[in-house]
Amino acid sequence: MAEFVGAIDQGTTSTRFMIFDHGGAVVATHQLEHEQILPRAGWIEHDPLEIWRRTENVIEVALDKARLTADDLVAVGITNQRETTVVWDPVTGRPFHNAIVWQDTRTDRIAAALERDGRGDVIRERAGLPPAAYFSGGKLQWLLEHVDGLREAAEAGRALFGTTDTWLLWNLTGGRSGGVHVTDPTNASRTMLMDLRTLDWDDELLGFFGVPRRMLPRIRPSSDPEHYGATLAAGPFRGAVPLAGDLGDQQAASVGQLCFEAGQAKNTYGTGNFLLLNTGHEIVHSTRGLITTVAYQFGGSAPTYALEGSIAVTGSAIQWLRDQLGIIGDAAESEALARSVPDTGGMYFVPAFSGLFAPHWRQDARGAIVGLSRFHTRAHLARAALESICYQSKDVVAAMQQDSGVSLQVLRVDGGVTANDFAMQVQADILGIPVSRPVVSETTALGAAYAAGLATGFWSGVDELSSNWAESKQWTPSWTADQRADGHRQWLKAVERTLDWVEI
Ligand code: G3P
Repeated sequence: MAEFVGAIDQGTTSTRFMIFDHGGAVVATHQLEHEQILPRAGWIEHDPLEIWRRTENVIEVALDKARLTADDLVAVGITNQRETTVVWDPVTGRPFHNAIVWQDTRTDRIAAALERDGRGDVIRERAGLPPAAYFSGGKLQWLLEHVDGLREAAEAGRALFGTTDTWLLWNLTGGRSGGVHVTDPTNASRTMLMDLRTLDWDDELLGFFGVPRRMLPRIRPSSDPEHYGATLAAGPFRGAVPLAGDLGDQQAASVGQLCFEAGQAKNTYGTGNFLLLNTGHEIVHSTRGLITTVAYQFGGSAPTYALEGSIAVTGSAIQWLRDQLGIIGDAAESEALARSVPDTGGMYFVPAFSGLFAPHWRQDARGAIVGLSRFHTRAHLARAALESICYQSKDVVAAMQQDSGVSLQVLRVDGGVTANDFAMQVQADILGIPVSRPVVSETTALGAAYAAGLATGFWSGVDELSSNWAESKQWTPSWTADQRADGHRQWLKAVERTLDWVEI
């Protein structure tokens, strides 16, 4: 009898496959990075074929490591970097262009134009999103306008759009020979093309971006008892496993953290940071710069919504210290370096590399390091980079509390940076509330596994999952209220300095 659930986590920098048991423990995992293609300042692309090859590989290796086969898996769920836009030819299986990644700012002008004639307000109201280069709609418009022959192909049914969940599901279920073309409401809610109430593509929104409906995937539940399809014997699973769960990675993390009640929130520290607050079945529109998104839709039940504070650059600021500046050898080194100085010596680093997302939504912002003097060293910069992750999170927590009236008692955290003990202590200090990390920190993949396992009856319902959550560590605030207020005031001054930097 099959006893495990698999989860594909297709992220911004890497793809992993994880296998979980019924208790939510990790049985095996394998992960591979893919290339970040940076053709010019502000542009970030991925090669969809490379992502597919990496996916095949991580599945094969993780199964081998665990000595398991397709027969041991009840179901597979998928979770993915959201918004990243892929367009491909269903006949050849070849992408028309590299994927345009969520952090890519080439569509700033498309987004700015939407604000000038009232279309932005329609998008806010119906899709829950402020017009921004971040979301898929503008990226798809850009591709339709810039790739020769793509618009004609799309109108003729010879071009499919998808985020990376859709791209992988299509390939896993047979690709050119009949792959399914589907996504789920959490991913669709990041496109500016879906109506949050109906969970269907909206013709007026499609018209804003000139997107032909026939190139869009069918929107199916995030946990689907009817299954999207099954994997193929000829594919990496070497057998048929039901594909039954699909969630954008931040929503998956929220499910993995068991945020099923309105008022529960989690913050994931990855390439960027994403704080999601479950608002139940209510669509709450933010007045403080948060976005409204679908948290999940399981089976035929009503969707659950969330308010989200999306921050573009957090963990990737540490990667920048490593890859672009070369001042650390690996991400973990940032912790020791930051601890080697008592404070940043008044230096602040605002990594607004892709403009500023929540709660500011300023595409004209660019990064800044302020308060520099001759005294400063790379240690101060490492410390300021880690503090910037925490201050940006503070700003979205504050917006969320003001918007929702919910006062967070504790912040549930997950993701790579939560391994950094120093950063998590600073986070508690800056927020003034405890920060709590679960034992299974791979909540993104776990959430996708839950979605797939719930669909197939492996878990009977969300109540059964609650015994799977346990805290591994909690950090409690140590700063005085004055320290907290002073630091935050200085931070906001630094943020001001980054605005109005580029002309859109
Ligand atoms: O919205 C972008 C987000 O889904 C990316 O997540 O973990 O790949 O940085 P991550």
